[in-house]
Amino acid sequence: DWTMAAYREEAIRAIREQVGEAKVICGLSGGVDSSVAAVLIHEAIGDQLTCVFVDHGLLREDEAEQVVTMFRDTYNIPLIHAEESERFLTALDGVSDPETKRKTIGRLFIDVFQHYADQIEGAAFLAQGTLYPDVIESVSFSGGPSVTIKSHHNVGGLPEKMGLKLVEPLRELFKDEVRALGRELGLPDSFIGRHPFPGPGLAIRCPGEITREKLDILRKADAVFIDQIRRHGLYDEIWQAFVAILPVRTVGVMGDGRTYDFACALRAVTSVDGMTADYYPFTHEFLGETATRIINEVTGINRVTYDITSKPPGTIEWE
Ligand code: XMP
Repeated sequence: DWTMAAYREEAIRAIREQVGEAKVICGLSGGVDSSVAAVLIHEAIGDQLTCVFVDHGLLREDEAEQVVTMFRDTYNIPLIHAEESERFLTALDGVSDPETKRKTIGRLFIDVFQHYADQIEGAAFLAQGTLYPDVIESVSFSGGPSVTIKSHHNVGGLPEKMGLKLVEPLRELFKDEVRALGRELGLPDSFIGRHPFPGPGLAIRCPGEITREKLDILRKADAVFIDQIRRHGLYDEIWQAFVAILPVRTVGVMGDGRTYDFACALRAVTSVDGMTADYYPFTHEFLGETATRIINEVTGINRVTYDITSKPPGTIEWE
């Protein structure tokens, strides 16, 4: 793509000019925006960049490992893997109110990020994957989450507090252009086409109290659902798909025995920008097969439902 090749060169020149010899910290979420920003900045200034990946224990199966492998091993980008799940899950213990969950995660995220960033000597800049839509409109998704992409992944308020200046090389781009730039930079298609994942992670897919048990079950069920979607070639048609584990146990039968396990909901939507969404019209066959697989393969779930709410009136996430 000629335009993106030119953009890439110009962006690299601008980053070098802005940063000079200083060090840059980049908060990596594993999402497309921060990843593209990190790879671009690394291309511009090499090891003057250090990425910080905060693992809050609310990631999907194998997600942390994938991010660490890709950045540290494949791209050789200096990366701090802040494994802080204990801290986050302890703080969330007993919390069931959605807004309190978000605030707890947002506050801790900033503390943790700052702690790690403080250890990088000579850091003068904070890199963010801010996109043009974030610039023109300080995003707060309908449904009103208080922790948006801005205040969570892009650690709002932190630059001033830490005396850091911002580097935002994606400020002029829309999402599809960021994907094109990512391709231009050689990021794998499988990565660029990934569904969005919210900053608060699995916390907002686990209504009610969050427990390690529920998170483990949720991760397994989610992996089966996504595998089903990939096997049927539907992944790229869907904006976002995931499982929510419900705070209710239901009775079932399995073999000769009675079960009393969690119910879950499958969620899959099409959307252009996440602001409105339609539920995805899976075939009954697909749904039946998926339910059977989840119940057979995931200990702890004995009932599967499909969420057919569009947005509005529903939100995409469950909290
Ligand atoms: P809702 O659930 O509001 O979500 O319909 C719209 C889109 O935004 C994502 N989302 C978030 N992303 N931090 C994020 O980074 C958040 O706090 C957050 N809340 C929702 C959601 O996954 C969907 O793509």
